[in-house]
Amino acid sequence: MPADGDLAEAASVLRTGGLVAFPTETVYGLGANALDARAAARIFEAKARPSFDPLITHLAEVADLEPLVGSVPPAVAALAARFWPGPLTLIVDRPEVVPPIVTSGLATMAVRVPDNEYARRLIAAAGVPVAAPSANRFGQLSPTRAEHVVRGLGAAVDVVLDGGPTRCGIESTIVDARGDHPVVLRLGALPVEEVEKVTGPVIIRLGNSGQPVAPGALAAHYAPRTPLRLLAAGEPPAEGGERRGYLAFRDRPAGDWAAVEVLSVSGDLTEAAARLFEALHRLDAAGVGEIVAEPVPENGVGRAVNDRLRRAAATWRPH
Ligand code: TXA
Ligand code: MG
Repeated sequence: MPADGDLAEAASVLRTGGLVAFPTETVYGLGANALDARAAARIFEAKARPSFDPLITHLAEVADLEPLVGSVPPAVAALAARFWPGPLTLIVDRPEVVPPIVTSGLATMAVRVPDNEYARRLIAAAGVPVAAPSANRFGQLSPTRAEHVVRGLGAAVDVVLDGGPTRCGIESTIVDARGDHPVVLRLGALPVEEVEKVTGPVIIRLGNSGQPVAPGALAAHYAPRTPLRLLAAGEPPAEGGERRGYLAFRDRPAGDWAAVEVLSVSGDLTEAAARLFEALHRLDAAGVGEIVAEPVPENGVGRAVNDRLRRAAATWRPH
């Protein structure tokens, strides 16, 4: 766990334009000073991220929102009050002080207060809002441990703060609640059902190609290097094989598989989400030729898990 001195040093690296990877409750973020265009540019470079994919700005406190962006629409304020700190990203108007590179030129900005003590202490000590995408190379699996960040980005990052495995394991839910009808732009760790308790029914609009609404939303995203085939709900896994790995929800599959990962033996969706990327990282490292994955139940955070699996499978072709 990061010591106070490490946090202070990391905060000063942020203030002076450097890149700091830090834990959040969802996944590790790759942070830079959101008020510094050159620092933000380094994020895109380190991740090999296309410049059209905007970043999320992270704040230490709910109370930091208004001073940065001014007043926000009532539904946005209500969601922030209810779910921050937490795995919810909200869309607001981009304030002048945040350079356009952070939002990829959009007039809007994504913002959240993460529910992780180290993240919040780091941001507070830096004294600036922190732009941070997930700390992985573009299109690859999100990191849920500091080791994943080091393996994926290595020397491109100035400091990696190790806060242990992340609690939620998948990214924040993104909601645009500025208009009359709140729109979910990315399924994530906060279940849609929870959002709807505050806003009433939402529209789910997950882009998947071209210039996406939430480019996290590109079809082939969150992908292991190994081809991944997603079974249909209830589809039996066929036979194993010494070159194939299997990602199960709760029950081990029959047959011999080179590697098997079970997301939650008790069938708990929150646990399954927390273990998803870690399990995929491990299957990816197992040297198999194909990963076969089964979907999880399509409710609560299970919808976000299935969304990630569908995107990981988007480039799969029969072979
Ligand atoms: O849980 C998370 O949100 C993690 C941690 C580090 O906070 N961050 C994360 O960032 O997942 P990233 O860059 O991997 O995903 C950010 C998503 C992208 O899909 C991006 O397109 C979307 O947020 N986004 C950013 N600004 C936006 C905006 N103004 N309008 C719509 N979508 C936006
Ligand atoms: Mg990402």
